[in-house]
Amino acid sequence: MKNYAYHIFAPYRVCPLGAHVDHQHGLVSGFAIDKGVDLWFNITEDGSVRLTSHSFTGEVNIRIDDKTRVKEGNWGDYVRGAKYALSKRFVLQHGIEGEITGSLPIGGLSSSAAVLIAYVMAFAKANAITLTKMEVIKIASEAEREYIGLNNGILDQACIALGEQGKLLFLDTATEQYRLIEPGEDLGKYEIAIIFSGLTRSLVNSDYNLRVSECKTAAWCMQAYKEQPIRPLDQTFLRDVPLEMYEETKDRMPARFARRAEHFYSEYRRVRKGVTAWESGNMELFGQLIKQSCESSIHNYECGSPELIAIYTILKNLEGVYGGRFSGAGFKGAVIALVDPAYKKEVEESITREYLAQYPEYKKTFGIYWVHSTDGARFVEA
Ligand code: GLA
Repeated sequence: MKNYAYHIFAPYRVCPLGAHVDHQHGLVSGFAIDKGVDLWFNITEDGSVRLTSHSFTGEVNIRIDDKTRVKEGNWGDYVRGAKYALSKRFVLQHGIEGEITGSLPIGGLSSSAAVLIAYVMAFAKANAITLTKMEVIKIASEAEREYIGLNNGILDQACIALGEQGKLLFLDTATEQYRLIEPGEDLGKYEIAIIFSGLTRSLVNSDYNLRVSECKTAAWCMQAYKEQPIRPLDQTFLRDVPLEMYEETKDRMPARFARRAEHFYSEYRRVRKGVTAWESGNMELFGQLIKQSCESSIHNYECGSPELIAIYTILKNLEGVYGGRFSGAGFKGAVIALVDPAYKKEVEESITREYLAQYPEYKKTFGIYWVHSTDGARFVEA
């Protein structure tokens, strides 16, 4: 590879508790992990942006000051999306030329947020713009919502930008207040398993956005039943509807919407309990809550492909597995699990054997990877 002046590493994330609630301003938790994307680049004075990818074909060749908002449906959209969101706030004159690569198969680990964060940081560097971590989070997430078209919250970007090795990120996505929490003394050793189903597809084409609308509709129903003012859907969040109101109205709501709300309120409790379990070193309880969270994703939030549900069903009763759940939105990709390192080999063998017996067609693309928490997105010294 050519020599480049700059190198950014943007980690992927895992979210043990607090799934599908960030878009409703809920409580989330997460880690940045030691796999992610690497972007190497030089600054271009003439404003050209030229990038190649080790994972995708073709070259991105655009101008940093180009104002068009056309999506092309390829990996270059993330470059264009980062440029779009940053240029809403700043005048961009200098571009970058470089290469990007990802260290794991794509699906469920928020590779989209990782690449967007890397591009935002790179464009900011090229144009001598200093951003706080929270600004990077907001700009990258705006790129994903407004340009890519996924109506998500800030969970992914927050884990990627704020993560710290060994600590659990606990974030209130309504207030943006967060803590990075050291594990309690008795927590014991654990490793994070990433179990790839072998199935990948884009979230924009999944039911992700539909679920977000269902949550908002649940909030609207509750507010309407109680004769409260309602706001436009894009300003409506379940977090603004108190639990008591949910308890009083849930039986009147169409069952589908009530289930989405049930997931939200129960996940709120699980995240709170989980944070206490983590802080007090109770890995058993932390793991149990993760499993309960996945059950709620399956039954209340109704996501999870059959492949992901199969993996979760296999691992939930395995010895040495504290807990596990779908990673991310659960429509594709991976399952994560917190595992006692003494049982790694057995866990890996059992899942591989049982999953491939059910889904032999994924033999080539299925895989298990072991990862650790790490610090958030950063410039790497040469
Ligand atoms: C995806 C989204 C996140 C979050 C998770 C589910 O990763 O990008 O904003 O909603 O799904 O928790």
